[in-house]
Amino acid sequence: MVKQENSERLGPIEPSPSSSSTERTVLNVNDLRTYFFTREGVVKAVDGVSFLLRKDETIGLVGESGCGKTVTCLSILGLISRPGRIVGGNVLLDGKDLLKKSEREMAHIRGRRITMILQDPMTSLNPVFTIGNQVAEAIGIHQRVRGRRLWEKTVEILGLVRIPSPEMRLGDYPHQMSGGMRQRVVGAAALSCRPEVLIADEPTTSLDVTIQAQYLNLLKEVQNQLHVAMIFVTHDFGIVAKMCDRVAVMYAGKIVESARMRELFHNPLHPYTAALLKSLPKLEGRQEWLTTIEGQPPSLLNLPPGCSFAPRCRQVDDHCLEEYPPSVIVSETHTVSCWRAV
Ligand SMILES: Nc1ncnc2c1ncn2[C@@H]1O[C@H](COP(=O)(O)OP(=O)(O)OP(=O)(O)O)[C@@H](O)[C@H]1O
Ligand code: SF4
Ligand SMILES: [Mg+2]
Repeated sequence: MVKQENSERLGPIEPSPSSSSTERTVLNVNDLRTYFFTREGVVKAVDGVSFLLRKDETIGLVGESGCGKTVTCLSILGLISRPGRIVGGNVLLDGKDLLKKSEREMAHIRGRRITMILQDPMTSLNPVFTIGNQVAEAIGIHQRVRGRRLWEKTVEILGLVRIPSPEMRLGDYPHQMSGGMRQRVVGAAALSCRPEVLIADEPTTSLDVTIQAQYLNLLKEVQNQLHVAMIFVTHDFGIVAKMCDRVAVMYAGKIVESARMRELFHNPLHPYTAALLKSLPKLEGRQEWLTTIEGQPPSLLNLPPGCSFAPRCRQVDDHCLEEYPPSVIVSETHTVSCWRAV
């Protein structure tokens, strides 16, 4: 195992990528820090987050509510507004730092090179416009197509996300569609410009289980067709198992463990990851049981020194309370930030 130099400053980061994986890197998030300067104090919502995203792959961002998943995604897209501010790090898209781009340049990148699907389709769709208009608008803003060609493209992309008889549905308003269909329309708008990176922030939470499974299959198929790299935010390890190649587990604004999906499931090294996996519902005999992680995640205001998970950790010792654990490279594809692994 290798302890990373400067690990306290950097937080847990990916092991050095091999040259082939570097070539395939689409997005490189490095030591990202996004703070909210509130009256009560500084909320360190994202505090040293680093990860790589490669072409065709999906990385899962998982963790309990409030750990900084959405703020990480919004920071990548340059969508942090007051009292929030990105105070450090860089976000490299094809080697160019997005944090140095002007708002005008970012508006060009959002929707064209990086797009995002939100949790609730109704917050992304405008109820007073038809779905045809809304998808066409997304295409029209970023591609120079008008008139008949624009409508053909709109029908094509709605077909790609399996809206049945899309030419007949162009005039429908969002309330005339089911939740699953609305979410597919949002997906169509997000994918219409064939982005390099798709960020899906809990896109299936508002869908029932069957529709959720269909939607996830569809996203996977479309990903294979368009070769888009995906950041998939979820609370649900079942979805991680289905969708993700690699997983980054977040706790209190930091990535505490990252690994290939199977490696993480079979050999979780951080007590928080192990507890999350234990809290998955399991069927034993006929009884379904669920263990929960004791205690609450900490407030991100004025975090005490030491490991943020310490108040909930069964393996805590004095050292854990004094100093934040460095990131340890366990293998080429596995890092963990815990004193027990040092
Ligand atoms: N505008 C804001 N002002 C102050 N704090 C904020 C603001 N927006 C987010 N935060 C804080 O940033 C932290 C991370 O929030 P974030 O929305 O990223 O959590 P999350 O991991 O996406 O949670 P969830 O699973 O509930 O969506 C939270 O503690 C939240 O309270
Ligand atoms: S560093 Fe200590 S408190 Fe934190 S997860 Fe590891 S053992 Fe638990
Ligand atoms: Mg969120």
